[in-house]
Amino acid sequence: MQAITEIIVEGKVLSRVVSGTDPAGVAGFLEDYRKVWMVFDTNVATHAARIEDALRQSGKLVAALPLNVSEESKTIETVLSLEDWLLATGADRDALLLAIGGGITTDMAGFAASVYKRGIRFAFVPTTLLAQVDAAIGGKTGVNFHSLKNMLGVIRQPDFTYICPEVLETLPARDFRSGAAEMLKTFIIEDGGNYEKAVRVLSDIAAGASIASHRNELQQLISAAAAVKAGVVSRDQFESGERRKLNLGHTFAHGIEWKAREAGSDITHGEAVAIGIIQAAKLTDKALAGRLQSDFSKAGLPTELPFPLESLADAMLKDKKAEGGKVHFVLIRSIGDVYTEDMTVAEAIAKL
Ligand SMILES: NC(=O)c1ccc[n+]([C@@H]2O[C@H](COP(=O)([O-])OP(=O)(O)OC[C@H]3O[C@@H](n4cnc5c(N)ncnc54)[C@H](O)[C@@H]3O)[C@@H](O)[C@H]2O)c1
Repeated sequence: MQAITEIIVEGKVLSRVVSGTDPAGVAGFLEDYRKVWMVFDTNVATHAARIEDALRQSGKLVAALPLNVSEESKTIETVLSLEDWLLATGADRDALLLAIGGGITTDMAGFAASVYKRGIRFAFVPTTLLAQVDAAIGGKTGVNFHSLKNMLGVIRQPDFTYICPEVLETLPARDFRSGAAEMLKTFIIEDGGNYEKAVRVLSDIAAGASIASHRNELQQLISAAAAVKAGVVSRDQFESGERRKLNLGHTFAHGIEWKAREAGSDITHGEAVAIGIIQAAKLTDKALAGRLQSDFSKAGLPTELPFPLESLADAMLKDKKAEGGKVHFVLIRSIGDVYTEDMTVAEAIAKL
């Protein structure tokens, strides 16, 4: 299996990120599996149909299940319906569950596979930019519970994640931009010369260029972002240290998303992350925050707080806690250099 990158813990390869030019290409990575169950988001039915054809030709497909996905249906009940389906169609410990869709689909399918018969193998074909650079890499799986995001779940790695930029050509522009925010976040954490390139490509697309016209550059950028995430996860799978860096902008973002839900207004996770990163940057370097603001705007992302900062405090307090009421804030020294600092939310707000 030709991998772009691997998640390696204590010398053992736990997961691979692989790539190809078209969705059906995933069939080329299924040599080691005898029986495949596939679950797909109904909004990606055309991409899934190409994969289904390829799997039928190889005689490996046992069952295929379309799923209507939304944050509201990202629940334990939906996961139970997946367990029912796996059981009814005879999935055994030899089964591979292949999930095709965005982060909601991969989070739920990964969780379903992780608990079915104490864990069967699973793999992902992420179809959103956000899932290709973030959600489908790193092994966090789960569902929402009592309106709390990702409250139930496990960390268990997919066998592999198959990246194919072609599927992004059908993604709505707003969902594409949501993933753009996570891509920019990744390169602010670890640049490797990719941040500037990502701003250029994403700005071009925000200005109307087609995804197809940037397919090769996107492939390289997505691979680079996936490699950054895989590297961080390899060093800290269970988020006891370095993996926290991936939460750059997220304390503010969670506050914004919580408030938006209360206010009945609509903001995507990536939009909230973009605004959150600008706030995080302001904590250390106002000039850098200004530069990021200009870059993010060009990439079609919002940068201004939609609610007064003080009104986000309660929701921000719910974020990942350190000792003594402090929160792990991720701060930016410069592009490619971030660190965590424990502060109370009140201390952070006072600095802004
Ligand atoms: N596990 C993790 O580490 C991790 C990290 C970040 C986010 N997440 C989770 O990911 C979810 C968000 O992921 P997402 O933004 O991919 O959301 P999503 O799965 O809801 O996809 C966004 C929308 O795009 C549609 N869609 C997906 N691919 C498409 C395509 N190629 N063409 C047309 N339409 C397409 C979907 O049906 C949906 O309407 C959240 O639930 C979040 O909690 C998980």
